[in-house]
Amino acid sequence: MLSVENIDVYRGRTHVLRQVDIHVKHGEIIALIGANGAGKTTTLRTISGLLHPAKGKILYAAGKGKRQIEISSLPPEQIVSTGVSHCPEGRGVFSQLSVKENLLVGAYLRKDNKIEQDIQSIYEMFPILEERSTQAAGNLSGGEQMMLALGRSLMSRPKLLILDEPSLGLAPLVIETIFNKLKKINTEGVTILIVEQNAVMALELSHRAYVLETGRVTLFGRSADLTLNPEVQKAYLGGE
Ligand SMILES: Nc1ncnc2c1ncn2[C@@H]1O[C@H](COP(=O)(O)OP(=O)(O)O)[C@@H](O)[C@H]1O
Ligand SMILES: [Mg+2]
Repeated sequence: MLSVENIDVYRGRTHVLRQVDIHVKHGEIIALIGANGAGKTTTLRTISGLLHPAKGKILYAAGKGKRQIEISSLPPEQIVSTGVSHCPEGRGVFSQLSVKENLLVGAYLRKDNKIEQDIQSIYEMFPILEERSTQAAGNLSGGEQMMLALGRSLMSRPKLLILDEPSLGLAPLVIETIFNKLKKINTEGVTILIVEQNAVMALELSHRAYVLETGRVTLFGRSADLTLNPEVQKAYLGGE
């Protein structure tokens, strides 16, 4: 579905990513783990078209049997319209807008008549959002803002959902709720690429994972195997 092929990315004059190669198949949950500053956010921002690679390319196919297209030079709105939704680091909810208005923002490229229906299904997933639907998003707790950010991403009806550190700063119980919903969203047919510093949770959730170290992919494989890898345990799972 998504092939990130040997991309090099600069931010200003800093050479942040080197030959990053990541492949996501339909229906998978892929985790990207790595320390602070490794280049995880840069990778996601490049996939979504907010940054462009200096070398390499990114190919994407919206569905099984759909033609692969090169997205690495497309603007972000066009990438969203192909079915890629990016739930950014720090949530990025519009704090002055109401909860419902935030959800509507997520649907801004849609022209169908099922938007209200989808808002209802987000409310079923996270009932607190319905209770707070007319309140300003800025008044929500961190966990509620994460639910809203996820709901807003789903409002574009993505085929590929990209999440940047959804667990950051949240209480364990809220993280569990959100990760359980991610599993459900995935079983309903949405492919997921998730960046997490919480490697334990990310490896538990995902089918496969990539480890990024100072801008390079240093390891990848099935998450269950990586969990048992001594290097991964030492660096990311708090092992000896
Ligand atoms: N806007 C920027 N300009 C220059 N360098 C940046 C910018 N944003 C991030 N970087 C650098 O790129 C590297 C990777 O950052 P980032 O992708 O945010 O890492 P991660 O998400 O893994 O913590 C870091 O060394 C960071 O200092
Ligand atoms: Mg980051």
